[in-house]
Amino acid sequence: MTRQKLDVAALDALGALAEARGWRAARDAMFRGEAINTSERRAALHTALRAGGSRLPSPAPAAVRAEVAATLERMAHIADAVETGETAALGLPETVTDVVHVGIGGSDLGPRLAVEALAPYHTGRVRCHFLPNVDGDATSTLMRRLDPRRTLVLLVSKSFGTQETLLNGRALRAWLVAAHDGDAEAAARHFIAVSANVEAAVAFGVPRNHVLPMWDWVGGRYSLWSAVGLVIALAVGMPRFRELLEGAAHMDDHFREAPWQDNLPVLLALAGIWNRNALGYPSFAVIAYADRLRELYAHLQQVEMESLGKRVRADGGALADATVPVLWGGVGSNVQHAFFQALHQGTDVVPVDFVGVVRPDHALADNHDALLANLLAQAAALALGKTREEALAEASAGDAAAREALAVQRTFPGDRPSSVILLDALTPHSLGMLLALYEHKVFVQGCLWGVNAFDQWGVELGKTIASAILPALDGDAEAGAAFDPSTRALIEAIQARREA
Ligand code: F6P
Repeated sequence: MTRQKLDVAALDALGALAEARGWRAARDAMFRGEAINTSERRAALHTALRAGGSRLPSPAPAAVRAEVAATLERMAHIADAVETGETAALGLPETVTDVVHVGIGGSDLGPRLAVEALAPYHTGRVRCHFLPNVDGDATSTLMRRLDPRRTLVLLVSKSFGTQETLLNGRALRAWLVAAHDGDAEAAARHFIAVSANVEAAVAFGVPRNHVLPMWDWVGGRYSLWSAVGLVIALAVGMPRFRELLEGAAHMDDHFREAPWQDNLPVLLALAGIWNRNALGYPSFAVIAYADRLRELYAHLQQVEMESLGKRVRADGGALADATVPVLWGGVGSNVQHAFFQALHQGTDVVPVDFVGVVRPDHALADNHDALLANLLAQAAALALGKTREEALAEASAGDAAAREALAVQRTFPGDRPSSVILLDALTPHSLGMLLALYEHKVFVQGCLWGVNAFDQWGVELGKTIASAILPALDGDAEAGAAFDPSTRALIEAIQARREA
């Protein structure tokens, strides 16, 4: 935080604003399970999913905690069966070698990030594959490569109504039925569904005892801690999954106890608000100097932009300030050779969160030192820049005019803000802490901006239109006629080229 552009007076003023907006009361209401998601009249109780790892007593309703504990037991049963090879417990005659996780958005990003980030902790019993997109390329490639008799499919959808997930689920179901010579019941046992809509999962054909619950009080983007994270437990084993929950609970405890001046989520939130509202920076980058965190920015894109990408306040009133900046990012040092030029000398200032890992899980100490050196160098260069005089001193060739011209090009303005977040090591526990840190940062920003950080009405319109376009693409002229001229022309162009 030392490289953020808030002075003590600005930080104090923002802290006072957070206090005046009641961030502590709002936080406590979230942990208690009050219906803070007002537009959907729901609680946002993702913290209850990891409350078992907390030092502090959980204020979440006892019934919620009991359901969470029971679901964790069911997850452990499945993970243990797969790990020990005793898959008869799941009704599968053969051991499982491959797990296909089908889900999109929050039902994909967090679990995928965690499985990749925790690679050194994998038990090695199964390979995990992810099918978020409806693009049939990945689905058909997997169906070509995998042995259906040794594949377990996780169908993960809170609503169990998401087009992409259901289409991939149907394709895999047909593949499994064919591999079982038409025996739909035997094929169905290869599925585990995770959904808040249990009846829809059963209607799809998943055996009822293979359906794990989700709840309306868990938002998709906050759901990796629930049975949505079963794939993580299958990859690393249930004890490690519980360590991930404990790490998040550790951050929850910190968030609940620390005064705002020492509270990491609050401080990150205030720096972000300052960058967005006081300095007007329109975007923000998260750069992880760890290949295993390559999906971190993608997960945070959903956590931050789906939560805070709102144009009215929760009470319906107009917003006084801009809300969420565009979040983007990548992996260092790769991205230094892609877009860092613009971060250093472009006309837009882009605040950066650098995430690094102190102790690697490998013995290549020289590589790791170089990785960390690059992280520190970029943060320093963004902050300090290079003055015209320094650039001039470096320019030795040519006459005075040529040296001056070169110095202008080589001058960096500097004074560009960043934060550095260092994990001691990339473990299930530290990953849990890191992800919960950003969840709570978003919560505090939602509180300061006065928006509901737990709904996502903005994604619904496109989903509805896509469903309506589908029959038109299939040739239903009446359905096609309902669209605007531009969409109609594009549908016709696609149809014409299909026939070509
Ligand atoms: O993309 C919008 C969204 O509603 C996300 O909020 C959610 O994570 C994703 O779709 C998937 O939804 P579901 O888990 O219901 O399939």
